[in-house]
Amino acid sequence: MEQNKRKEICDKIFALTKKKKSFLEICKLLDLKDYELAGLITIMHDEGYNIEFVNGEIIMLKAPQQNKDIYKIPYELEHLKLLLISDTHLCSKYDRLDILKYLYTKAEEQGVKHILHSGDFTDGRSNRPEQVYELKEPSYEGQIDYCVEKYPTFSGKTYFISGNHDDWWYKSCGSDICKAIARQREDLVYLGPDIADVKIGNLKVRLFHGKGGISYAKSYKVQKYLDSVPLAERPDILQTGHTHQAFYMKQDHTHCLQTSCLEDQTPFCRGLGLPNEKSCWWVDVSFDDKGNVYQITPTLESFDSKKLVKRKR
Ligand SMILES: [Fe+2]
Repeated sequence: MEQNKRKEICDKIFALTKKKKSFLEICKLLDLKDYELAGLITIMHDEGYNIEFVNGEIIMLKAPQQNKDIYKIPYELEHLKLLLISDTHLCSKYDRLDILKYLYTKAEEQGVKHILHSGDFTDGRSNRPEQVYELKEPSYEGQIDYCVEKYPTFSGKTYFISGNHDDWWYKSCGSDICKAIARQREDLVYLGPDIADVKIGNLKVRLFHGKGGISYAKSYKVQKYLDSVPLAERPDILQTGHTHQAFYMKQDHTHCLQTSCLEDQTPFCRGLGLPNEKSCWWVDVSFDDKGNVYQITPTLESFDSKKLVKRKR
């Protein structure tokens, strides 16, 4: 089926599902065979539409589906170097692809194979009317194409979750933009919305984006969040996003790395006096001879200036 035609039919299926039409009614209205409609729904689900085919009926998912499984990556070496980034807000006029490219080149040079991203991959599309003037790409398809074409590539993989900006597409058109982007890039591994656990060898990392405004103290939200996680479930590294501020603390055996953003401050954030630090964490992990985590050492790299200054090495 031709691409545009298929999209047109998929949009119609989605609109009819929203109107609570049954599977058989949709078949009749769109003149589709039952196996054709079932096949299209499976494709739509894989492409990020917020629907699923369950027991012969189409189910509209009310929220992005979270993946509760731990994503396991085999790793047996003594030393592991990670790059932790967050809140790239791609497609915003204020995104910083130049910093991203610099970081991916540096990661490649340093042999980093695992980059972790804790959400707000895209700037999304808000229902705040003036946000559209802050976007390079206002449409769903435009944002997918932009990310697929421009997000830096490297020889390793980037593991990421969605944030509240990405999830705005759920509210407006029922689609998971991160899933749609990752389908077209083998080096981008989407772990689900808002929260996910990754295990690299014996190193357990939790990625968490979060919602809501910033707290009085930088550490408050992370501390309260960690308190809510049962001790047996706590990760070695808790990487959080959303607040556009960086900080580090260690509580019990968990190294909490609040990862800031990689975009310039938007007029909206400036008007509200919201903080906007640009930085990333480089994390060195060493394992003992049994493969257990022995030491975790984070290093912050900041990008405070408007322009990226490449230092001579
Ligand atoms: Fe953000």
